[in-house]
Amino acid sequence: MRIVLVGPPGAGKGTQAAFLAKNLGIPHISTGDLFRANISQGTELGKQAKAYMDAGNLVPDEVTIGMAKDRMEQPDAANGFLLDGFPRNVSQAEALDEMLKAESMKLDAVLDLEVPEDEVVKRIAGRRICRKDSSHVFHVEYKKPQQDGVCDICGGELYQRDDDSEETVRTRLEVYHTQTEPIIDYYKAQGLVVTISALGKVEEVTARAMEALKSKA
Ligand code: AP5
Ligand code: ZN
Repeated sequence: MRIVLVGPPGAGKGTQAAFLAKNLGIPHISTGDLFRANISQGTELGKQAKAYMDAGNLVPDEVTIGMAKDRMEQPDAANGFLLDGFPRNVSQAEALDEMLKAESMKLDAVLDLEVPEDEVVKRIAGRRICRKDSSHVFHVEYKKPQQDGVCDICGGELYQRDDDSEETVRTRLEVYHTQTEPIIDYYKAQGLVVTISALGKVEEVTARAMEALKSKA
């Protein structure tokens, strides 16, 4: 399946994507994780992206679309993928449609995670991620690591993301409402959207998502 995951910052996209990708046997492609990997490796792309990310703004489309396309062209994505954090505005959604059309492919579903803003703020405030791999995500209350400050998966150091400060989160939420939410209508017009509540335990949300995706498989 080819799936796009949408939802506000801190909705649990990365958390759900890890389980859904495994259940469905498709790669999890997160543009946020790709940018963070580039930043930690000190690449030119990482240098370009960092200032935008730290301010909570979108990285320009010229940089983002090429990076996403390169990743989607890897062999493991030939039979499907779960996109997390891309597309993030209507022009990225149009670019994705063009890319897929050129390969005679199409999206199967857009999974929209709904979470009230006060919950999102709590989830982000307590989030800790791994220095070695930003897809290893924990929470000081809701998903405690076995040892304080240490990643259960790889032993890496856990830290708070630079863009998880209160002020930057406010900007990211605003950017989500103004630039990303319009893609939901864009995809509704294509009949692709399934909306679920992302409240409750992680495994409950995963079960809800798998059930909702059945209608699009
Ligand atoms: P990105 O990394 O995509 O950040 P985001 O969309 O803001 O989403 P988050 O990673 O904050 O949250 P999430 O929904 O994945 O939640 P998580 O699973 O971690 O993007 C970062 C930046 O990169 C952007 O601001 C932009 O600058 C740039 N960028 C990326 N893509 C781009 C694009 N396409 N175009 C332009 N720029 C782009 O969960 C949050 C916390 O809650 C965790 O601690 C988790 O443990 C906890 N949690 C999860 N589920 C539950 C639950 N059910 N109950 C309790 N706690 C839970
Ligand atoms: Zn780790």
